[in-house]
Order: sequence, then structure tokens, then C-alpha cells
Amino acid sequence: MVNYTVDQNVAIISWEMTSSPMNVLNDESIPQFEAALQRAFADESVKGIIVTSAKPEFVAGADLKMILRSNDKDPAEMLKVSSELNRIFRSIETSGKPTVAAMNGTALGGGYEICLACHHRVALNNPKTLIGLVEVTIGLLPGAGGTQRLPRMIGIQAALQLLVEGKKVGVKEAKTLGMIDDIAESPAEMIQKARAWIEANPKPIKPWDEIDRKSGKIVGKDNFNVPGGNIQSPVGAQTFAAGTAMLMDKTKGNYPAPLAIMSCVYEGLQVNIDRALAIEGHYFVKVATSKVARNLIQTMFLGMNEANKGASRPKNIPKTDVKKLGVLGAGMMGAGIAYVSAQAGIEVILKDVSSEAAEKGKAYSRGLLEKGVERGKVDPSKVDGILSLIKPTADVADLNGCDLIIEAVFENRELKAQVTKEAEPMLAQNGLAVFGSNTSTLPISGLAEASTKPENFIGIHFFSPVDKMMLVEIIVGKQTSDYALAVAMDYTRKIRKTPIVVNDSRGFYTSRCFGTYSGEGMELLKDGVNPILIENGGKDAGMPVGPLAVTDEVALDLVYKIASQGIKDGVLRDDDTSYQVAKQFVELGRFGKKSKAGFYDYADDRSKKLWAGLRDLFPQADRQPTLDEVKTRLLYRQAIEAVRCFEENVVRTKLDANLGSILGWGFPAYTGGALSFVDFVGVDTFVKTLDRLADTYGERFRPTERLREQVKELIEA
Ligand code: NAI
Repeated sequence: MVNYTVDQNVAIISWEMTSSPMNVLNDESIPQFEAALQRAFADESVKGIIVTSAKPEFVAGADLKMILRSNDKDPAEMLKVSSELNRIFRSIETSGKPTVAAMNGTALGGGYEICLACHHRVALNNPKTLIGLVEVTIGLLPGAGGTQRLPRMIGIQAALQLLVEGKKVGVKEAKTLGMIDDIAESPAEMIQKARAWIEANPKPIKPWDEIDRKSGKIVGKDNFNVPGGNIQSPVGAQTFAAGTAMLMDKTKGNYPAPLAIMSCVYEGLQVNIDRALAIEGHYFVKVATSKVARNLIQTMFLGMNEANKGASRPKNIPKTDVKKLGVLGAGMMGAGIAYVSAQAGIEVILKDVSSEAAEKGKAYSRGLLEKGVERGKVDPSKVDGILSLIKPTADVADLNGCDLIIEAVFENRELKAQVTKEAEPMLAQNGLAVFGSNTSTLPISGLAEASTKPENFIGIHFFSPVDKMMLVEIIVGKQTSDYALAVAMDYTRKIRKTPIVVNDSRGFYTSRCFGTYSGEGMELLKDGVNPILIENGGKDAGMPVGPLAVTDEVALDLVYKIASQGIKDGVLRDDDTSYQVAKQFVELGRFGKKSKAGFYDYADDRSKKLWAGLRDLFPQADRQPTLDEVKTRLLYRQAIEAVRCFEENVVRTKLDANLGSILGWGFPAYTGGALSFVDFVGVDTFVKTLDRLADTYGERFRPTERLREQVKELIEA
């Protein structure tokens, strides 16, 4: 609810919603907020208004479930939300009573737009507070005046940067940028400063509503002076020309919101504030009703929250807490796992074959922490504490008493069996006693054969670099118990990563689907498609890197090794293109980025260019496909593999399939993920396109029977 009290002639409107964990703008709170404002406006004894919150945060933004409800149905409903808020916020500006936002905590999106509508903003100096207009990160734009008030307050360039990136800043930076006016050191001081401002400014007028008394012209009506220069000024014009081109290149037209924000600001700053708000409303409806916004909200916001809360965790197991972790192998992955675990306050025993190797693994954490301090991201007083949690060793006995041990030694079945046998007895008998493997390719059920307790053996698959990659793929073997799954998920949450759960199988989920992206890149090469076109196709489709560049990063000898194993196991034919191409490159000694030679040549200055020899190895066809055709091949090939994984129960839920694709191998988020891609293009289009691709390029594209049934059901319905 929104509380209303009057104290010494100042109305205090305090947000304190009980129906949701955070204060949000929704059908319930918006009318309550307006009613409180109206009471204050109507009461003659009230000389000013303070808007604040009784919860730790100020207001976290709009209720996204409310936005989703109207997303694909009703643009008019969506416009109503935006214009309602604009009407209310505009009434704050023009009520004639000074209104101050007393920002006790985080104010994001619509929450910060309330503050922008107030005449003055005082924020509590709270290190947890984040302030910003973050709508763009979920495919939206600020629809309650944010795109109009912020640039009018802090200038075009500064505002655009915040709006287009959806950047959140702390209190001090917000003050420097002019996003807030004052900082208070205590809640009492915050209210006192707000009161003092009200007293000193009994009749505040927003600059864009000011009347130039001499000329009689309303300043804000025709040409409001934006700090730092108007749209027509050289700075303004340059910002838009360069900014729009840059955004076009970055988004490849896949994300409509950033460009819509540019248009809002460009058009809005040339008219008065009321027209400007209407322009913003028009663009807001356009993006808020888009499929892209729906996908981003559903997968990246609501879905991610669900996954982080443990949507796939077995419900009947009490919460567990890993306090002491053993990590076997202090190489690239082991060192990274030690780092993220120590950061979460977990004691880590980091074991390698020699103490030098183990120490080197610990030094990796020191390096990351020092870099963090340099960049102001890590509190220097915390560094020693975090490092003291990591204990490098070459002695297995030091693992005694661990709750969980994760092995990250070389990818070798025999070695993994050996270290499992050696380390498992060290698990605390009365502790959690779970053993995890970070293998990227070896089936978990097979590795569990080395364990005396296969029910406590589980795959905990991290991605590289561990400190940056948010996903952990948890792999359940044939005998893995719900208990072990719960422990693995609780640990993943403790280190603040997002878990997905998959069933044991070749390549699990993420590596299997990712392999199709890299593989289709090689198919395109073999078909004589210009490699530049291949790489551009990947990037234009929204993948972070082209398929050839990413294969170089993975390393061609690894692709060759995995494919050879597949042939040995009888699941791959030896005319498989990935196998053939990788073999050719390994024979040439071109292993990829690590050997500075793969599909690309890598120079010492870290630049790269496509290897000239590709032209002889893969003669270019006279007739080249369109960019769209290349994109279609690359995206559909990954999506159909994700569909197969879901149908085969390799990945257990749609949410895990979607999140895993975006966070794990960079499938473009605007589609909502590799499974959601089917709905994004429409299941009938999906099936039709796949059949055409299969007829033209090969059976790997053929749609499944279940997909055909879905189309049939759709036609019948
Ligand atoms: P790495 O080669 O960097 O490190 C392996 C470490 O294990 C070395 O420091 C080695 O000295 C140590 N080691 C060997 N025998 C040992 C023993 N008996 N006891 C303790 N330590 C021992 O390898 P990396 O890249 O860290 O990979 C480790 C595991 O993680 C592999 O299973 C790999 O498939 C998997 N993985 C790798 C990813 C990657 O991107 N590199 C991603 C996900 C999983």
C-alpha cells in the first residue's frame, strides 16, 4: 500500500507494498499513489510533499507481469498505462506544491521516473542503492517521461548513454551526473533536507514549464535549452548521427528498443513537454507490444528469477549449505571455480599434482581481485580475506572434511576415475558428501562407476571464463539422487550462478547444441560460401561471434577429438563435415586461436584476419547465398537441435532450454532462447522452413514428428 501522513504541514507519501516483495508500479499501487497525491494537493494546510518508501528499496519499477498481460493483445491497454502515469507524474510537476523524492534505496525504471517528476531529489548514501532507467535491458523504454525529463535535466549525451545501455549507477555517480540533487547520510537527515528544500522553494516550477517573463514566451514550449546543447547544436547533431549508426551496428536491427529511445529523445526535445510525452507514449507502445520485449521479459527477467530461486530444484530436500569445497585440478577451470567459491565465502582446498601448480591456481584469483580493485569493482579491504579462503595443496589428505569436491583435471576418463577414487574418501562423513565433475564431454553415469556412492555423483559443468559466465549446467547421471541435485543447486546459488538441470547424454545440452553452430559454419564453408559472409551471418543473427571464430576459440583439435570419439562410439559417420574439416586443420597444424592459426591468422597485437588458405581449401561457389539464407541456416540448425534435446528429455524444462542457450552458448536473447525461437518465428513457419532446408542442404534440418503434430493441431484449432 501507499501510506499517507501529514507532519508539520508536509505530506509524507510512503510506499510500502505488502502484495509484492518489492515496491512496484501496478494496477494496485498506481491508483493508491494518485489518491495520496490528490489528498495532498487538495489539503490547503499541506505546503509540500515528500515521496519516500518504508521498504529497503524506493520503487523497483513497473510490475512486469502487468506489462506481459497486455503485450501481445492490446496496444490500447498498454498506451493507457503509459498515459495514466504521465498524467499523474505531470500533476506532481504542476500542482504548485513542492514535491521532493526522498530516495532511501534503489530506484529503477518507473521508480526513478517518479523521482524525475518530483521537483527535487535527495538520496540516502546507501552503498546498495542503484539508480537508473533500465527498461532497455528487457526490450522496453521508459514510458513515463524518463526519455524526456532525463535529457532535459542532465543533457543529451549523458542521458542517452544511460538510457540506451540501461545503466544503473550508485548514489555518488548519480549526484555527479545530476540525476539526483543531494545526498543525505541518514534517513533522518534525508527527510530533514527534503523539508528544508520545501521550505526554501514554496513555488517551484520545472525549467521546461517556466515562463520567460520578459518576452512572455513559454521557454519550454518552443526551444527548451537542454544543458550542454540542444538537438540542433553541433554536439547534439553529432551525438545523434554517430549514436544511431553505432546502435544500428550493435543491435543489427534485432532489438527495437535502443533505436526507439534515440527517436524519442530526438523528436521529443524539439517540442514542448506534453507533446514530448505523447511521442514517448507512441514509441513505448511500439516496443512494449513487440515479441522481443515479451521474450526478454519472459526469459531474461521472470525466467531467470525463477531459475535462480531454484525452479528445477527437488522440493522435498531441506536446504543445504556447502562450507568447505575441494577442487581437483588448479588449471584454467579449477582456478576459476576456486575464485568464485571463495568470493561467496566458501573455504576452498585447491589441489593439483604439485604445490607449484596449486599455488599458480591461487595466483589466478589474486590477479582477478587486483584487477577488480583497479577498476573499483572490488573493495580492497576484502582481498586478503577472500584469498585466505583458498588453500593450495598437493596433498589429498588436505581434502579431509569437504562437503563437496569438484574435479577439474584433464579431460581423461582414466585420470578422472583415479582422482575420484583417491579423493572421495576425504568427503566429510557427516557432511554433505557430494562429488561433482566439471567434465565437458564425458557421460556422468560412466564417470560415476569410479565412485563408491554413484547416487552422490553429479556433473557440475562450468563455462569459461568461470568468473564471467553466469550459467552452470548440472548433469544428472543414471544413479544421481535428488539429494545430490539439491546440494549442487544450492551450491550454484551460493556462488550466484544460474543453474539449469539436464539429463546425462552425449555432449549434454549446451555443448551438443553449440556444436551445431560451429558445425553449420563448416558446412557453409564446404558449400563454397564466402567466409566473410558466414561470419557476418552469425553476427547479424545476433550471435556474439561468428561460427568460424568461435570454433577457433574452442580449438579444432578438441573438435577433432570429440568427433573421433563419436565415430568410435558409432554415433557419427566418418563423412561428417565437422570431423573432416577439423581433421584437415589438425593435419595442417592449425589448431585455432591457441596456436595462432585456425580459420583465422592471429597476430601478436591480438588482431586477426581470415586465413588466405581458406580460398584454396574451400573454393568459393559462383553463386553466393543471401545474408538472410546464411542466418537462417545458422539459427534454425541450433533451434532444431534444442527441440530434439527437449523431446529426448536431455533438457528437462523449456525454461532451462531457453536460459541455457542464451547464457551458455550465446543464442540471441531477442528470440527468448533456442526453444522459444519456434514461437518467435511461428511453429508452421519453423516446420516449413526446416523442410525446405532439409531438402536443400541435408537431413540434419528435418523437423521432428512432434513439431508436425503441433502444426496440425494449430490448423485444426
Ligand atoms: P587445464 O589443463 O587447464 O587444467 C587441468 C589441471 O588438472 C592441470 O593444472 C593439471 O596439473 C591438473 N591435474 C592433472 N592431474 C591431476 C591430479 N591427479 N590431481 C590434481 N590435479 C591434476 O584444463 P581445464 O581447461 O581447466 O579443464 C579441466 C576440466 O574442465 C576438463 O575436464 C575439461 O573438459 C573441463 N571443462 C573445460 C572447459 C574449458 O573451456 N576449458 C569448460 C568446461 C569444462
